[in-house]
Amino acid sequence: MVIHSEFLDSLTPSAIRSITAKIRDKAKQGEKVVSFAGGLPSAEFFPIEDLKKIDEQIFEEEAGEAIQYAASDGYDPLREYLVTFMERFQVTGLSYKNFLITSGAQQGLAYLSKGLITPGSVVITENPSYPGALETFRSYGAKVVGIKMDDEGMSMDELEQALKANGHVAFIYTIADFQNPMGASMSIPRRKQLVDLAERYDTFVVEDAPYSLISFDGTVMPAIKRFDKYGRVIYSGSTSKTIAPGLRIGWLIADEESIQKLVYLKMRDDLQVNNLAQRQVLHYLQDHDFDGHLRQVVEVYKKRKETMIEQVMASFPEGTRIVPSGGGLFLWVELPEGNDTLEMFDYVFQKNIAYVPGVFFCPDGSGKNAMRLNFSTTGEDKIRECIPILGQMIKEYIQHK
Ligand SMILES: Cc1ncc(COP(=O)(O)O)c(C=O)c1O
Repeated sequence: MVIHSEFLDSLTPSAIRSITAKIRDKAKQGEKVVSFAGGLPSAEFFPIEDLKKIDEQIFEEEAGEAIQYAASDGYDPLREYLVTFMERFQVTGLSYKNFLITSGAQQGLAYLSKGLITPGSVVITENPSYPGALETFRSYGAKVVGIKMDDEGMSMDELEQALKANGHVAFIYTIADFQNPMGASMSIPRRKQLVDLAERYDTFVVEDAPYSLISFDGTVMPAIKRFDKYGRVIYSGSTSKTIAPGLRIGWLIADEESIQKLVYLKMRDDLQVNNLAQRQVLHYLQDHDFDGHLRQVVEVYKKRKETMIEQVMASFPEGTRIVPSGGGLFLWVELPEGNDTLEMFDYVFQKNIAYVPGVFFCPDGSGKNAMRLNFSTTGEDKIRECIPILGQMIKEYIQHK
């Protein structure tokens, strides 16, 4: 008998997983796929040697403590370290009690969903936005309302209209820095406006910030949390894109009482985050050259992105538009209106090249003519070789359609 319930039967595989499944199938047949579809940092730069030394040190000095059961709110020395870490984003005045360590940012989003969404609740997001978040919100019964983006991030006029039109909104979800998938960042005036709107319409802002330090010119924006005079912003951080995602370390920041409520959720969910990984991340941030590592990786990503833009502009159909951005892992490409990147996916995939169709990111079903290309995991030479093939396949598809 297969397990079943209304909730379980409502879950479907994530849209992006359907693409990764196709890639895996090809790999099983021994074919090599060049994937611009992932959202991964590049494994070639993971700080393996440092982590080896850290593991040795942890087992030498912290021994059994490091793999014992531990507190649900997180490893206190890591929480304390993060208080200082947040000054990078001009967030000050925090105590370690404002932090809940999570198993990646994704778990934080799940807890906020579990805690704040009831079936039929409205969650407002950017349009487009990160599908992993949209699917989590929906799985808890939320109706997701997307707000259009421009060069300064989410449109505040449209947001206010949506707040007026939807009654109680559980929260507004934003990826304000080097957004997934567009790469755009929210301007400072809009960050302030967003906090004011949350206060005026009695809702919360969930600020998801895994890309904030992947900045090509080194500029780090002040977090929305920096402007949070009302206690309306819940900040979500992660080391997935800057150290390594497999360690699964993220954190939520809120007032102490809210954190305590989320800790009760965590106790019932998985007791605690992996104790060893919390210590690995703490030692890495505290005792090793995190900033040097970041500079090296970001420099490589920047070159890959420049190469990708050059190749897209040279080989994609006339009228293609890209969204300029100063960081992150993604390039958002819009083909001329009337094209459908989901429809053309299988045709292009014959050449073993993958991307993510834009429609997967858009709560309102728009984005049909767009695609997200990831540049972090493919070397410049491969980008030079494969983006023109992608462009050629798109043109062929359009011609023969
Ligand atoms: C915007 C955004 N939030 C959260 C996540 C998940 O991050 P983590 O690995 O910390 O769970 C991702 C991963 O791609 C992301 O793009």
